[in-house]
Amino acid sequence: MDAVGTGMTAASAPGKVILMGEHAVVFGRPAIALAIDLRLRCSVRPSSSPTLNGQPMDDRAGPYLSTVLREHHTGGPLAIEITSDLPAGSGLGSSAAVTVAALGALSASRDGIDQEDIARKAFDIESTVQGRASPIDTSISSHGGGIFISSKETDGLLWEISRDTRRWFVHECRTPQMTLVVGFTGNKAPTGPLVAKVRRYAERSGFARDIIDEIGALTQEGRARLDAGDVEALGRLLTKNHNLLAILGVSTPALQKLVDAALPYSYGAKLTGAGGGGSMLALTDRPEKVAEAIKARGGTPFIVRTGAEGVRAEQGTDRRSGPIEHHIREK
Ligand code: MEV
Repeated sequence: MDAVGTGMTAASAPGKVILMGEHAVVFGRPAIALAIDLRLRCSVRPSSSPTLNGQPMDDRAGPYLSTVLREHHTGGPLAIEITSDLPAGSGLGSSAAVTVAALGALSASRDGIDQEDIARKAFDIESTVQGRASPIDTSISSHGGGIFISSKETDGLLWEISRDTRRWFVHECRTPQMTLVVGFTGNKAPTGPLVAKVRRYAERSGFARDIIDEIGALTQEGRARLDAGDVEALGRLLTKNHNLLAILGVSTPALQKLVDAALPYSYGAKLTGAGGGGSMLALTDRPEKVAEAIKARGGTPFIVRTGAEGVRAEQGTDRRSGPIEHHIREK
């Protein structure tokens, strides 16, 4: 797509929540991620000098955008505009979304958007920038909807991604329309050190390895509950998953406080993503009530809906976000 006469192309990509299986996925267990209706948009157009949101690019681009441009743009300088609904540093996938949307905007100007191709390139970029442990964030932001990722192929295969000796099968995960309340603790926590912490624990403790296995089994069951649209049973699995993550040492008092605040009005609640700060989520049919409870405990609530579309071409990008540095420097 090319906005007529301007040479501009644009794409947007959704943020995500990890519904179940974070950390265990690093050890080859399954995980489920859902795209949410908070999006990041990126537009690019040829320019006499490189700019980002109207300012000289210099080193403002941050590691993700710089790597996208270095590895996937061969033409002249670009004026890039990025806007985002995603709260920065919240664990809702803004680094994956900026990578995916920028790749989308660049490929929209060449051969059109191919979700699988973008998922592969985006995972390579995240791996380069942060040594990312699994392709879950980049695959969900590319594909949208819901994905089930595992080390074995099951039904609904979308694509397979390998790196070194590791191999992931990314599957479609049928998901009912759900409302989730995300509660951001306000603490930004980089993923890498948390993944390393769990790895160290698993290396020295059979107990930790059992917990990881148990998370894998719960996640497998979670896929079946999602498929059946059984949100009550799913909610119970979420809370169990949270308790196991807490045993692995990735919850924090702030996350626990928000989970406890949400539970009386929810089917289930858990931390989402790497933990150590970041966000929790609650599955509920009383989103306003949960949002209030999260706010009362000092969290920032976001009521989000599942079923968001993956990376897609857009007409253009208006400028209405806050400082973009946060989104593109996360992690
Ligand atoms: C972070 O969003 C999810 C983790 O499982 C790390 C990963 O899978 O890359 C903690």
